Amino acid sequence: MPQSFQTASADETVALGGKLAAQLAPPKLVLLRGELGAGKTTLVKGIVAGFGAGAEQEVTSPTFTLVHEYRAPTATLYHIDLYRVDTQRELETLGIDDLLSSRSVLLIEWGEKFERFRRERDVEVALEHISGDQRRITILD
Ligand SMILES: Nc1ncnc2c1ncn2[C@@H]1O[C@H](COP(=O)(O)OP(=O)(O)O)[C@@H](O)[C@H]1O
Ligand SMILES: [Mg+2]
Repeated sequence: MPQSFQTASADETVALGGKLAAQLAPPKLVLLRGELGAGKTTLVKGIVAGFGAGAEQEVTSPTFTLVHEYRAPTATLYHIDLYRVDTQRELETLGIDDLLSSRSVLLIEWGEKFERFRRERDVEVALEHISGDQRRITILD
């Protein structure tokens, strides 16, 4: 069953991410879907904090570096942003296969662009901008 939440601020989305972390025991491939500004990276801040892997402020958008790594006691988290990645060849240069392991949690923005990730994903989180600071966040697994 999908779980649906509504948040009224970025802080509430961070808090939700913190709770979601408990449902993401490794290995997991998580797709984060939603338009620019929907709150995908904000949710990742909470997930990373929930795993106890670094302070919230350390999480920034990986739009330019594409892959950010956070080491937690029970998992290694990889936050990946494929917004600017369009071809199979570009995807391959990222070496995402090398990141998959029994202790890895991959948190992928714009991963639904690639059929492979739509097929392989364990969890999908859809974020919708309702109005102002309101977001609807739906978790499918
Ligand atoms: N309820 C909310 N949840 C998440 N972000 C929110 C919310 N309300 C306002 N914001 C703001 O919206 C922006 C979301 O940006 P970001 O998380 O980088 O989005 P995305 O990664 O989906 O492009 C941030 O500036 C954040 O402060
Ligand atoms: Mg983002």
